[in-house]
Amino acid sequence: PGRPGAVPAPPNGPVIRPRRLRTTPAMRRMVAEHRLHPADLILPAFVREGITEPVPVSSMPGVVQHTRDTLRKAAADAAEAGVGGIMLFGVPLEKDARGTAGTDPDGILQVAIRDVKAEVGDDLVVMSDLCLDEFTDHGHCGVLDARGRVDNDATLERYAEMARVQAVAGVDVVGPSGMMDGQVRVVRDALDGAGHQDVSILAYTAKYASAFFGPFREAVDSSLKGDRKTYQQDPANGRESLRELALDLAEGADMVMVKPALPYLDVLRQVADAVDVPVAAYQVSGEYAMVEAAAANGWIERDRTILETLTGAKRAGANLVLTYWADEVARRLNRGE
Ligand code: PBG
Repeated sequence: PGRPGAVPAPPNGPVIRPRRLRTTPAMRRMVAEHRLHPADLILPAFVREGITEPVPVSSMPGVVQHTRDTLRKAAADAAEAGVGGIMLFGVPLEKDARGTAGTDPDGILQVAIRDVKAEVGDDLVVMSDLCLDEFTDHGHCGVLDARGRVDNDATLERYAEMARVQAVAGVDVVGPSGMMDGQVRVVRDALDGAGHQDVSILAYTAKYASAFFGPFREAVDSSLKGDRKTYQQDPANGRESLRELALDLAEGADMVMVKPALPYLDVLRQVADAVDVPVAAYQVSGEYAMVEAAAANGWIERDRTILETLTGAKRAGANLVLTYWADEVARRLNRGE
């Protein structure tokens, strides 16, 4: 009987059955809209000056601060696994107010770029973080003015010099991550003015003042007290990312990034819909730590969760994902998982 006027159920049940395309692994594989590929993945890696053994990062189980030698090995392994690129972060012995080690031609990051380029050549895209926070004793991404505020324009001059020394060291892509206004323009000009027109810029376009960067601070021995809320974006703002995006593109960004990934997939989708350049998502230290910690407690299936988070970033529009699992996931994908 049913309600008067209700459409009678067809005698053979529903005509349209989405489950038909979910019947077997082969069927699901064939109709999958998004696929992870090793070349989409970028491995962020830390190298610390003056150590002879790698130092584990306790809040990121499985991640270490590399020695120069173990970094070379990690880069060679990543290249062999077909990973797309490596993003280098340096941890210097000496920090000061201006982050001098960041622009020293023989500073740890420049040395690491040379080491890795010598190891992998053009088999892996070599990228470097272009920011002062690993090198400053106050831990901020720029230099401070007399009142202790991060001085945008004085910082830009430091970034220009950083871009030049990283390019001389042989980097393929620089990643300005400090969220200073005008940084992409200044870096582009510095590179071009020094004859490095071929070095690309992966702009940290939408970068939020996020609690998910917590474990990274241990990974780079950060001395930051306070926060980065005067330069990184407020998590409450989505539209603002489109403004940052327009600026970065106008200033010459070759690729753009949204960071963190998981809590900002809406921003990633908006950015991906708005551009004609490659879009990257950075799955940050806190995203990594969350999954590893839950898995270590037996609360979550580690391997499936990892693939699901990366697939989520691709579905939201990322072409590239920076992930501390890049090497492991590339190997799993190569095995057909
Ligand atoms: C800045 C930088 C940070 C991260 C990447 N580049 C730290 C910050 O902005 O506080 C965070 C990466 C992560 O959490 O995995 N040099």
